[in-house]
Amino acid sequence: MMEILTLNKIAACGLDLLDKNVFNVSDDAKDPDGIILRSFNMHDSVLGDNLKAIARAGAGTNNIPIDKCTEKGIVVFNTPGANANAVKELVLAGLFLSSRKIAQSMEWAKTLKGEGENVGKLVEKGKSNFVGPEIEGKKLGIIGLGAIGVMVANAAYHLGMDVIGYDPYISVDAAWGLSRHVKKADNVKDLVAECDYITLHVPLNDSTKGMIGKDLFAIMKKGARILNFARGGLVEEEALKEALKDGTVAAYVTDFPNDNILGLENVVCIPHLGASTPESEDNCAKMASVEIQDYLCEGNIVNS
Ligand code: MLT
Repeated sequence: MMEILTLNKIAACGLDLLDKNVFNVSDDAKDPDGIILRSFNMHDSVLGDNLKAIARAGAGTNNIPIDKCTEKGIVVFNTPGANANAVKELVLAGLFLSSRKIAQSMEWAKTLKGEGENVGKLVEKGKSNFVGPEIEGKKLGIIGLGAIGVMVANAAYHLGMDVIGYDPYISVDAAWGLSRHVKKADNVKDLVAECDYITLHVPLNDSTKGMIGKDLFAIMKKGARILNFARGGLVEEEALKEALKDGTVAAYVTDFPNDNILGLENVVCIPHLGASTPESEDNCAKMASVEIQDYLCEGNIVNS
């Protein structure tokens, strides 16, 4: 029998696809042949001598020590596209959160508890603090045109936005073949200079870390709203704080809360919920399980 270690809760409908005559699946396997995980931050020490494959039930692989895996010949899989719809839907919520101050106004509304008959008057007085623009007719810049970026592009177009895209990896032809609704930016500078909203959909790696930094904030359209449902590390924190303070950035909505920005007035932090829908958890678990079984039993490699 081969041992599969799960390092996070993985949907049963996925694990059930693993052949029970071949695999033992548990969360305490000592010397596993394969690992399936979600966001568990893996340390090198988990890479045992028997380990042959790791499947990430998700898109990003920055929680896995890829270099060490490569050294040891361990194949790492991910599940591209399996959670794209779930993330797209939360990004769309992010657009409205960044514009209409929904989270901030909800916090304020809670302070009205106990005001009894005064609530109506207080609402009239306070609501002018929460005026925010409509997204229709505004420019949305999408950095990264993979599965999620393209889905966001199509949905935003149908909400009446003018959509501009840039991708540091995909060739222009490949990216623009995917969505009829994205206009092409030649580079990231042009995109940030003209967009009212900027949404990030690239992986975190050495070349994208801190890519939204001081130099881009310096040329960014005044009052831009930034959505980051990709990875926290893509944005330079100190530069962001400065840009929020001086009004360069009107709002930052992120799926990656961190202590340095939590509590800032124009920041909305969601606790990494982009992929947290039953549909997406099932899709990712199924894809990851099939990938690992296919490799360990047949030697097939897809999405590595
Ligand atoms: C991803 O990389 O797709 C997400 O981090 C998935 C997740 O939230 O587990």
